[in-house]
Amino acid sequence: MSNLEQTLSIIKPDAVERNLDLEIKQMFKNNGFVIIKEKKIQIEKSEAEKFYKVHETKPFYNDLCSYLSSGPIVVMILEKKNAVLANRELMGATNPKDAIEGTIRKKFGLSIDKNSVHGSDSLENAKLEIDFFFKD
Ligand code: CMP
Repeated sequence: MSNLEQTLSIIKPDAVERNLDLEIKQMFKNNGFVIIKEKKIQIEKSEAEKFYKVHETKPFYNDLCSYLSSGPIVVMILEKKNAVLANRELMGATNPKDAIEGTIRKKFGLSIDKNSVHGSDSLENAKLEIDFFFKD
């Protein structure tokens, strides 16, 4: 299958803290994603700064990096046909207020910062983000 893709998903600190990781993983599985690899970790702020480097000029960069490193996260490699787009659809809009019914961020997101999940925004970034967390 030529368009079988892998994408990176992060269950963010707000969701892990509320013990939503199993429920969110089940949503991925119910939507046909296979979790190829996963680990629960906590990262340093310096690592979050590298991960979100693409946002370094944004006004929210510092808070974003502090937040991602503020508690345990679950990082996963998800696989499915057209996984990058399918994951973005399942997550819903970045701001939970704008997310449609049935999406993860609509169901669990608290705010634009505490929006429960991250997902790669392109196939190219998916490869970089998977390497970032899973290249040993
Ligand atoms: P995420 O998909 O992890 O990518 C970058 C994150 O920055 C995004 O989710 C949001 O949680 C966070 N963020 C905070 N403020 C903004 C903003 N104004 N626009 C986009 N993303 C924002």
